Amino acid sequence: LTEPFLAGRSVLITAGPTREFWDPVRFLSNRSSGKMGYALAAAVAEAGAQVTLISGPVALDVPPGVHRIQVESAQQMCDATLAQVAVMDILIACAAVADYRPTKQAAQKIKKTDQGLTLALERTTDILEQLANLADKPFIVGFAAETERLEINAYRKLKLKGLDMIAANWVQGGQGFEADDNALTVLWPGGKVELPRTSKTQLARALIKLIAEYYHAKGSA
Ligand code: PMT
Repeated sequence: LTEPFLAGRSVLITAGPTREFWDPVRFLSNRSSGKMGYALAAAVAEAGAQVTLISGPVALDVPPGVHRIQVESAQQMCDATLAQVAVMDILIACAAVADYRPTKQAAQKIKKTDQGLTLALERTTDILEQLANLADKPFIVGFAAETERLEINAYRKLKLKGLDMIAANWVQGGQGFEADDNALTVLWPGGKVELPRTSKTQLARALIKLIAEYYHAKGSA
């Protein structure tokens, strides 16, 4: 059993994909299974914190001691995060939130024709960018899913989104998404740690230890 090094803290975690519907039965989404985010929720509960998990649609059971809020779209995930964040000490944003959604959602199932179909897309709200300007924000850890220039792109997201820390993973060739194991490069202003490939359960425990260390060091204790 892990020591309760986050006892008395409240931690918010986002996990899974979002679905952006363009008619009542069809949507745009991504490959996130929720495994990484749910492993983090379990590890944070083991570390003694109160855990709220905002989850997109996944086929996973809620880990013991975790309070889950289920959402579908990026906008719903954004609204749920904003509603919870004020009372949180730490936020870990592991969800693969859609960056684009269809501009229109048809009320009825769109009939197929002999023609092609073009979907117009618009940007969703970036949840972490919304939080960057909050007066009293928690310790925020983002994720970066990359297929090229892992560290450069992750470092840019750390700065752009005003994060305290970012956990970057490769997501091509069966890595990151859906797999039972993963590896992370964790960056923060002035520091870096490589967490080598292992099960998402073990990796989540290692990342939570690191987050707790820097959260306490930042004087948020
Ligand atoms: O769920 P699994 O199958 O286990 O896979 C795990 C994972 C690969 C999904 C996970 O490890 C991961 O990388 N999660 C982040 C995926 C992602 O969307 O990364 P990004 O680089 O596009 O986004 C950067 C950060 O901004 C993320 O913290 C994301 O939650 C956040 N974001 C993105 C878009 C948006 N509209 N709002 C956001 O806050």
